[in-house]
Amino acid sequence: MQFVMSDPICSFYIHWPFCRTRCSYCPFIALACHDEYMERYYHALIAEIGLFADKNKGCSLSTLYIGGGTPSTWPDNLLLDTSGKIISVFCTERLQEVTIEVNPGTVRREQLVLWRRCGINRLSIGVQYADPEVLALLNRFQSPQEVQELLFSASAEFDNISVDLMLGLPGVTDVCWKRFINEVVTWPITHISLYCLMVHEHTPFFYKVERGEISLPDEELVADLYCWSIEFLAMHGFMQYEVSNFARQGYESQHNTVYWDRKPYKGFGLGACSFDGDRRFMNEQNLLQYIQMLEQGKNPTMFFEQLSKDDVRLEKIMLGLRRSVGIRYELVTEGLSSDKRSEIESKVQQLCASGLLQILDGVVKLTHAGFVVEQELIAELA
Ligand SMILES: C[S@@+](CC[C@H](N)C(=O)[O-])C[C@H]1O[C@@H](n2cnc3c(N)ncnc32)[C@H](O)[C@@H]1O
Repeated sequence: MQFVMSDPICSFYIHWPFCRTRCSYCPFIALACHDEYMERYYHALIAEIGLFADKNKGCSLSTLYIGGGTPSTWPDNLLLDTSGKIISVFCTERLQEVTIEVNPGTVRREQLVLWRRCGINRLSIGVQYADPEVLALLNRFQSPQEVQELLFSASAEFDNISVDLMLGLPGVTDVCWKRFINEVVTWPITHISLYCLMVHEHTPFFYKVERGEISLPDEELVADLYCWSIEFLAMHGFMQYEVSNFARQGYESQHNTVYWDRKPYKGFGLGACSFDGDRRFMNEQNLLQYIQMLEQGKNPTMFFEQLSKDDVRLEKIMLGLRRSVGIRYELVTEGLSSDKRSEIESKVQQLCASGLLQILDGVVKLTHAGFVVEQELIAELA
């Protein structure tokens, strides 16, 4: 199934799966000890970009996100050639936001300068937490000095810097977390993504928890710290605009907003997902097969699905409720039979009465308490 953009303006995601080590909690497509494949992978990416360009002439790019894995391990010459390819085959006049994910301890000063030359204007730094002992429990090896060095050198080149943080890590107390967030708000950053640790089945972390080798913090403590963080970050100028995202005014992630607005985007690379406005696509997830398919000139789409009307309604609810702007009330029951409509309407009323939802001027929004149980709450409205 060939992917053809329904809109001439589009966003790209490029996946770089290589990492130095694989964090034990990570559910993403990320590979340690596979660096010998980097060059072949890069050629496969260029081939996939070429296949897409053949079918989507005149596509105008608005945002580009280079994620991973650890894209800061992408060899300089190969990254430069990839950006050259994109600039040569697509219109980049409207390109506003170009982000690269980077990990502390993997970035050299010259890289930052090169990235700017490639048009990258936003960094997303995977900090997660401060204490190296907690991070080492997660098979993540980075020191506070590496974080400080990266923030210092990055702020000389970039004025739009985001950090990823993780709440609910083992052994992190109330006092430790508050001390950490007090420090984070002093950093030269414009954006914070704050994720609550999710234990994904079949990750090494999951098995350690199963065997009782690691114990997780109390769920109520994590929920309290999440609500405390929302208030504290707002007091320091980082306003919550999505369940996990906080920004200084004007620095909300434009690329993520494309996902949340259900606008089309194309993902390139191993396991990358795409959306053409009606259908969702996913690329091959096996590294060697992905590379070989492109070496043979084949399209690497492994799976696609046409969304039903109900899928679309649910996506709108899920994406709308996760955002501070909320979702128009009529979209929550759009296209439902009258019985189902009354059932959902009374659920919405119950959730409002229990303080998890609020309706203001015809817009449904989560309250702070609702953000904590956002996934269960959205399932109620299915
Ligand atoms: C695609 S990952 C980025 C990987 C990035 N190179 C790194 O490790 O720093 C995006 C973010 O998702 C978050 N994340 C990864 N696994 C998670 C999990 N199991 N639970 C919650 N957040 C997670 C981390 O904050 C991570 O930085």
